[in-house]
Amino acid sequence: MIGQDIQKASELLRKGLVVAIPTETVYGLAANALNEDAVLSVFAIKNRPQFDPLIIHLPDFDSASKYTHSIPQKAFFLAKRFMPGPLTLLLYKNDNIPYIVTSGSDKVAIRVPKHTLTLELLKDLDFPLAAPSANPFGYISPTKAAHVEKQLGEKIPYIIDGGDSEIGIESTIIDCTTSPFTILRLGGLAIKDLEDCLGEKLQFNITQNSNPEAPGQLDKHYSPRTPLLLLESISDYKITNQNIAILSFGNQALPENILSINLSVLADDKEAAKNLFHSMRLLDEAKVDLIIVQKLPNKGLGAAINDRLIRASIK
Ligand code: TXA
Ligand code: MG
Repeated sequence: MIGQDIQKASELLRKGLVVAIPTETVYGLAANALNEDAVLSVFAIKNRPQFDPLIIHLPDFDSASKYTHSIPQKAFFLAKRFMPGPLTLLLYKNDNIPYIVTSGSDKVAIRVPKHTLTLELLKDLDFPLAAPSANPFGYISPTKAAHVEKQLGEKIPYIIDGGDSEIGIESTIIDCTTSPFTILRLGGLAIKDLEDCLGEKLQFNITQNSNPEAPGQLDKHYSPRTPLLLLESISDYKITNQNIAILSFGNQALPENILSINLSVLADDKEAAKNLFHSMRLLDEAKVDLIIVQKLPNKGLGAAINDRLIRASIK
């Protein structure tokens, strides 16, 4: 069922059930993070391997001290500036966070989502919500309630409809237990904005492999069922088969009579991020043999969008 009944969602979550929640990045599949059985059902519904840890969602960063310890001063600077917002901070966990949430790690990922309905829900609960993106494992993340309904609607009792996700790609993840801090996943907050706030450069550890010993991002991810070919330039591609589709960006000259969707005619990286996953889903449903797309300029959210396109193009 889809609706906006926060009281109903709250009751289901208290009973240990799973509810889909809107956020400004993507929709999440939420459960009581302190209830191991509830968390296990999140993994089961998504068909997600248990070595891939979950982010916990809180109503504000002040409550992070209940679930984490040794928070460095610079993490407070980031939180003050960017939370609520598309930022996740990795911190040392307290004993009250079960290891099923962190895949056995002593560190837990914390996020305060910027969405009125979900913040209202989080304030009503006396536990954090563990929530991965609400898509079957490996598929494109959802940015609309209808995306969740289509794929997981029969497996969960309730989906909160909070409209389209404003940012459209997942949160940027920063490990605050290293010095300087380390970026683990590119996302909805541009690197430059983070470094400007911190007054120093970040380290990078963006994994390209799926090593269960080092939980992180898996290489193949965000994948449409239709093969996706990522090019430096669309004009590199010699069209022989007409049954292809193009995901374009900016004011690009495109071959005629080919299905195409433009991520942002004005070449705006934020607009492209917002449109990315929905456009990929539309082209995936168009029954073409191949989707071609070219890399975006690496500035702003372009780098995070390219990261998703690279993973989506891995066979
Ligand atoms: O924007 C977002 O972050 C969305 C919304 C729903 O909040 N959530 C999201 O969750 O993208 P998910 O499960 O699709 O991605 C979580 C990723 C993991 O794959 C892993 O890379 C990292 O966060 N992560 C979570 N907990 C971690 C931990 N304890 N140690 C290292 N990495 C962790
Ligand atoms: Mg995900």
